[in-house]
Amino acid sequence: MSLEDASSLEPVNNNPQHIAIIMDGNGRWAQKRFLPRAMGHQAGVKAVRKIVEFCAQQEIEVLTLFAFSSENWRRPEEEVSLLMNLFLVTLQREIDKLNENKIRLQFIGDRTAFSEKLQKIMSDGELLTKNNTALTVVVAVNYGGRWDMCQAFRKVAEKMDAGLLASQDITEHLINQHLSTVGLPEPDLFIRTGGEQRVSNFLLWQLAYTEMYFTSILWPDFDQQALADAIKSFRSRQRRFGHTGEQILNQTIPLEQL
Ligand code: IPE
Ligand code: IPE
Ligand code: MG
Repeated sequence: MSLEDASSLEPVNNNPQHIAIIMDGNGRWAQKRFLPRAMGHQAGVKAVRKIVEFCAQQEIEVLTLFAFSSENWRRPEEEVSLLMNLFLVTLQREIDKLNENKIRLQFIGDRTAFSEKLQKIMSDGELLTKNNTALTVVVAVNYGGRWDMCQAFRKVAEKMDAGLLASQDITEHLINQHLSTVGLPEPDLFIRTGGEQRVSNFLLWQLAYTEMYFTSILWPDFDQQALADAIKSFRSRQRRFGHTGEQILNQTIPLEQL
């Protein structure tokens, strides 16, 4: 498919509603060009802009981007502070544009580790864009799937301590209601760029029935065409959710079980 084909990829009803991406490979992109890793992260921001625009055009409802994991603090101090600064500068520069394009911005992850200035920009951005109805962009920062489950279980336990919940009340629905992704549909399509085939503590609970797509393209090179290819792959799959292929083809399943 040419680039022209990618831009003419018509939104159809079997588009993924929610795409979740591990944007990996910035460092290797820079190293291949004998550039410092910082340049790879900067190039990565440009790719984010392109992908957000394309998802909005394609009428995708939710795009979740893994920007910084709870394990990324293990990187050299210099790289961590560079990433924090890039995050802050990018938000300062982009939030108004996102808002003009009716994009809703949300953050998931433990933000208490961030500077007050950064926390304020994040919550101001969420507040400013909260009623926007085009694409929702969820940025996962200082996020870990295990952290998410722990904080959900902690909130549930606090309600149990207060006598508001009993152990029989613990259901999948209740856990969902306490995860940081409450209110969002589950991801339909997971994409990891950069060639690694692992989940790296991303949305552990939420990925239970997500279609997985791995590509060796390094994140700064991931463009509209690459995303169109991933969506095409998604569309070619039969999602069975435990049913048989025949049941899906004959549509003999009650809608609420799908
Ligand atoms: C992903 O790219 C960006 C972050 C984790 C912040 P990497 O920095 O992990 O790039 P590689 O994997 O070293 O190439
Ligand atoms: C995952 O990438 C986290 C982000 C892209 C933000 P990493 O590069 O940190 O993952 P590992 O360490 O290779 O598993
Ligand atoms: Mg990496």
